Amino acid sequence: MQELSINQSTHPFACIFDLDGVLVDTAVYHFQAWKQLANSIGFDFTEAQNEHLKGVNRMRSLDMILNWGGVEKTTAEKEVLANTKNEWYVAMINKMTAAEVLPGTTELLQSLQEQGVKIALGSASKNSSIILERTQLTSYFDAIVDGNVVSASKPDPEVFTKAAAMLHVPAHLCVVFEDAQAGVEAAIAGKMKVVGVGTPENLPGADQYVENLSQITAQDIMGLIYKED
Ligand code: BG6
Ligand code: MG
Repeated sequence: MQELSINQSTHPFACIFDLDGVLVDTAVYHFQAWKQLANSIGFDFTEAQNEHLKGVNRMRSLDMILNWGGVEKTTAEKEVLANTKNEWYVAMINKMTAAEVLPGTTELLQSLQEQGVKIALGSASKNSSIILERTQLTSYFDAIVDGNVVSASKPDPEVFTKAAAMLHVPAHLCVVFEDAQAGVEAAIAGKMKVVGVGTPENLPGADQYVENLSQITAQDIMGLIYKED
């Protein structure tokens, strides 16, 4: 393929990043807090089960965990449990630093920003602003779409289509970065290209796979959209 220059007037594109597991490794904190909650009710769940919680919003995660423990709770009780888990989780993320940004992330965001590529966040989390602030990533984002502004959880494409609309970029010119199967499915449903941060076994259907963001450049991302040029 002929090397193209990243020129936003001739080859426009935008990037939409999931947060947990793509930009920062917060999955470990979610796991710790949910585990503590399950233990407080009297049961436990495994790391393998935890994999299924990636990309899934807070209330749906709680329902899945209670189901694994064979525990039934009322809506009011679930509200209390979700709030308790979140208090523990927020105490952990409030101690995060820029050192917890995953490899290659800051470099890629900086390179995209320097070349005028629009950047959005597309996350299920309601805690995205704390995490972005603590890890000093906020200033890279032109739009932030998170669990506070979406009603449908991934694999529904709402989070990504809203992000594309806020960036004023059509879906077919957007590349999504995701580490969760529900997120890859959401990007495909939104008719966007998707880079899987993981493996083809864990994330079937992505257009490309990376272990982390150090393995992809702004030029590679553009190549996913302008393949035939
Ligand atoms: C996703 C995580 O990004 O956000 C899920 O992968 C989490 O594990 C979800 O449940 C909601 O996060 P929060 O911070 O709103 O509880
Ligand atoms: Mg994720």
